[in-house]
Amino acid sequence: MKRHLLEAADLDRADATLVLDTAGQIESALAGREVKKLPTLRGRTVVNLFYEDSTRTRISFELAAKRLSADVINFSAKGSSVSKGESLKDTALTLEAMGSDAIVIRHQASGAPHRLARWVKGSVVNAGDGTHEHPTQALLDAYTIRQRLGRLDGVRVAIVGDVLHSRVARSNVWLLTTLGAEVTLVAPPTLLPVGVGSWPVAVSYDLDAVLPKVDVVMMLRVQAERMNASFFPSAREYSRRYGLDGRRMAVLPDDAIVMHPGPMNRGMEIAAEVADSARSTIVDQVGNGVSVRMAVLYLLLGGAPEGTT
Ligand code: NCD
Repeated sequence: MKRHLLEAADLDRADATLVLDTAGQIESALAGREVKKLPTLRGRTVVNLFYEDSTRTRISFELAAKRLSADVINFSAKGSSVSKGESLKDTALTLEAMGSDAIVIRHQASGAPHRLARWVKGSVVNAGDGTHEHPTQALLDAYTIRQRLGRLDGVRVAIVGDVLHSRVARSNVWLLTTLGAEVTLVAPPTLLPVGVGSWPVAVSYDLDAVLPKVDVVMMLRVQAERMNASFFPSAREYSRRYGLDGRRMAVLPDDAIVMHPGPMNRGMEIAAEVADSARSTIVDQVGNGVSVRMAVLYLLLGGAPEGTT
């Protein structure tokens, strides 16, 4: 593994498989234990630097670092000197001066983790940058697919909805295709990025035509906070064409699964009856996120610092 995890596009098949296998080993190592903790990162400090709101990802990284016995600092831009105008660079150098070994960053600007990686000596993990990438989400999604279906090679995955604003979609496109899956993006033309023609995916505007032919349906949240214009006529119209409801779920092949990275707009891109059904992996995804992030921190920080055991 490299020193940083900045984007899924950087991971080759061997690296990605190593993360998934390590997550599996960590999960089995902790399975029977009363105390769900490993001593691996004792004495190391992980900073969660969050400039954008988050529930799952921030808590998941915090838990992952704590389960590896690292010291964890949670920094959110709100309430810090960022509100006094301190730059990302000065903030990062301050954190590093205090001894951080890894910085997990979520930022509204695409590319912020890459810049950070040039300024600090420790490892940088991208926890979501603008509309660009969210590599650990794709890793936990791949882990969940492999856990449910037993493989990734040849698995047919539809990624549905607001692809334009979704870093989850971008990371999944790179990671899942690297791991041998066949990806189809399904969205209204207004919610597909310019240049999608050069991505290694198929594209469709017709959800009903795609559903009977997939093993995985990954629903994306409609990211209203990133929309400064009208991308579809109305919420009702969007749901009617691109929402996954019980009727649509019924045409999926028998073993197909339904995923969503959360947070969900229930009733918009996904109906409650689908989100809560036996096909849904939404809760598993959250649980797997902790093991996968433990694996990433473990592999990047390489276990105990020199001179200790
Ligand atoms: C996603 C994100 O923040 O990119 N959520 C997550 O990390 N689980 C997806 C989203 O916000 O829709």
